[in-house]
Amino acid sequence: MTSVHYPEPTLAARAARVLRDNDTGSVITAAPRLYPHMWSWDAAFISIGLAHLHVRRAIAELDTLFAAQWADGMVPHIVFTGRDGYFPGPDRWGVPDPAPGVRTSGICQPPIHAIAVRRVLDIARAGAPEDAEAAERFVSRVWEPLLAWHRWLARYRVDAGTGLVTIVHGWESGMDNSPRWDAPYAAVRPGPDLPPYTREDLHRADPGERPTDAEYDRYLWLIEGMRRVGYDAARVVATSEFLVGDVFITGLFALANDVLAELGESLGHETAEVRGWASGARAAVAAARSPSTGLARDYDLRAGRWLDTETIAGFAPLLCDSGAELFELWDSPRWAGNPDLVVPIPPSTSPSATGFDPRRYWRGPQWPVLAWLFGWSFRRHGWAHRAAALREAGIRLTDGGAFGEYYHPFTGEPLGSADQSWTAAVVLDWVCA
Ligand code: SER
Repeated sequence: MTSVHYPEPTLAARAARVLRDNDTGSVITAAPRLYPHMWSWDAAFISIGLAHLHVRRAIAELDTLFAAQWADGMVPHIVFTGRDGYFPGPDRWGVPDPAPGVRTSGICQPPIHAIAVRRVLDIARAGAPEDAEAAERFVSRVWEPLLAWHRWLARYRVDAGTGLVTIVHGWESGMDNSPRWDAPYAAVRPGPDLPPYTREDLHRADPGERPTDAEYDRYLWLIEGMRRVGYDAARVVATSEFLVGDVFITGLFALANDVLAELGESLGHETAEVRGWASGARAAVAAARSPSTGLARDYDLRAGRWLDTETIAGFAPLLCDSGAELFELWDSPRWAGNPDLVVPIPPSTSPSATGFDPRRYWRGPQWPVLAWLFGWSFRRHGWAHRAAALREAGIRLTDGGAFGEYYHPFTGEPLGSADQSWTAAVVLDWVCA
């Protein structure tokens, strides 16, 4: 009897299955067990992958996120699904519901949404005419909410001194436990009145790949501070023990404002305000460059000092097209040229930096979504061979089909959550584009 060769499903088919399996029917959760809700920047990446499968469902995902936008314009970092198994849930946050039946967290995440809208539109336009029309109607509809979101950042979060976009919690950076935040977090002192809590994440991922308990105490303590001021945007900034100018978000804000302005102009809107936010953010990133390494730095507004930990955030100038000379450092052994890497994607923290840990979340692993984001911006800025190299490396990193949340840079082992939706989504965009 001859044996039958059953072909393996393609990488695209496996990625699509992850999104299907994480689909609750109304929301695609960030991950099956660790993150059973909608996260703001995850949802943006997810919509990009989903657009290759079903444009109108990709649009629905972003509509669901924007339906949870607060009256003041903030897009919250979590929209809760009603599922159990995640801490801190809506009761611990204690946020006033932005709409009937909509429960959210009380902080935000990186403003990647205009870029996702742009990418969904481009994917739709390459497909069926009815999908292109649906995407164009969506862009007209989402323009105002996107503008309100960026205006909220400009109004409440752009620091008057440095011009950097500020964050009041490491979770807002999306890079929760990055060593970028070690110094500002060291100054956060949880009080004895921190209400007790039980971490859920430690039952759903290897504790060695997650933040420590001491870090979690600080995360929860900052939430208590925000609750005390009723999540009022100005009072949160005035009172938070943690207030940092985030250079990665600032670079992203410059790029996202360029994209938003182009979308607005195509609709006939006035965009001088948006262009102004873009140039302010770009200037702030340029001014944040380290005189010694050239990497862009965060700024601790509470301590009044620059933070020069060597993390991937230092490449923020490449997001906003202002630092091509940084590619020399990018290619060096401190970064993507490190000879021990499985693929040449910069790890979240330089292997040469103090605080580097190749397994622990944002302290060292490689993140496919960041490779996608840098690749997208490189293509836009005319560095096509750089974009192609990141795509090729990203596919090699993920082609085992586990769709890890992040990857060990020296072994390629998938870490954190398996079947992470945003990883599957960016792989879909890499292989279907
Ligand atoms: N990333 C955070 C977590 O690990 C929350 O945004 O739960």
